[in-house]
Amino acid sequence: MALFNRGSKITLENAKIPVHVGVIMDGNGRWAKKRGLPRKVGHRQGAQNFRAITRHAKEVGVKYITFYAFSTENWKRPKDEVDALMNLFEKYLDELDDFLKEHVRIRFIGDRSKLSESLQQKMLDSERKSKDYDIMTLLLAINYGGRDEICHSCKTLAQQVKEGKLEPEDITMDMIEQNLYTGDVPPVDLVIRPSGEQRLSNFMIWQCAYAEFYYSDILWPDFNNDEFDKAILAYSERNRRFGGV
Ligand code: IPE
Ligand code: IPE
Ligand code: MG
Repeated sequence: MALFNRGSKITLENAKIPVHVGVIMDGNGRWAKKRGLPRKVGHRQGAQNFRAITRHAKEVGVKYITFYAFSTENWKRPKDEVDALMNLFEKYLDELDDFLKEHVRIRFIGDRSKLSESLQQKMLDSERKSKDYDIMTLLLAINYGGRDEICHSCKTLAQQVKEGKLEPEDITMDMIEQNLYTGDVPPVDLVIRPSGEQRLSNFMIWQCAYAEFYYSDILWPDFNNDEFDKAILAYSERNRRFGGV
């Protein structure tokens, strides 16, 4: 698809493709409500879309894509909705094997300790089976919170100080970064948030320090390949300065 801007034609072929895209999959509940359906139907539709967009991002040439699936704050939701989401993750983890055939590397970020044993086992299996693939890395943020992640990293470093392996004055930003769930994953270049909300909601707050933001009013289950391309083209037009001139 093409986008005309300031007289110059930018297409996906000549666009600057972000290395790492973060997607805040929002609006599933409203999508269902609009149709008079239970919220969990919206989550199911959103999960389908996650698969479609993952494949499309790979075609576009994105190297890392992170999907925000469940936040540390989402436990506040009614128990039947949380249960429905957890069941959906179980189902989709079984189906992630399709991505293995396409050589997509799978990683999970977040605090796994609060998830069921079987979910944790499936997460480890997918990560282990796909660890050597390099076409694209798919990161799924489940029970993920940016503040929780930074706190976790600090605890790891504090333990090293306690054991006498590290001096507090030697702690660097790199060390904090290395001990985030993302470790060696590059910073986020572009954050896409559908559904009209314009906030991070605790998504990768460290990794998004210099990310570009793209907001859309479209609800996540309706956010299709063309909408994704629009976000990439908008990103391609941005002038990133990283504090320089
Ligand atoms: C996003 O959709 C999915 C999760 C947070 C798990 P929502 O469930 O937040 O949908 P809305 O925002 O209520 O429409
Ligand atoms: C953010 O969406 C979390 C995920 C998409 C998993 P929310 O719907 O939970 O965010 P808020 O509550 O509107 O900020
Ligand atoms: Mg929401």
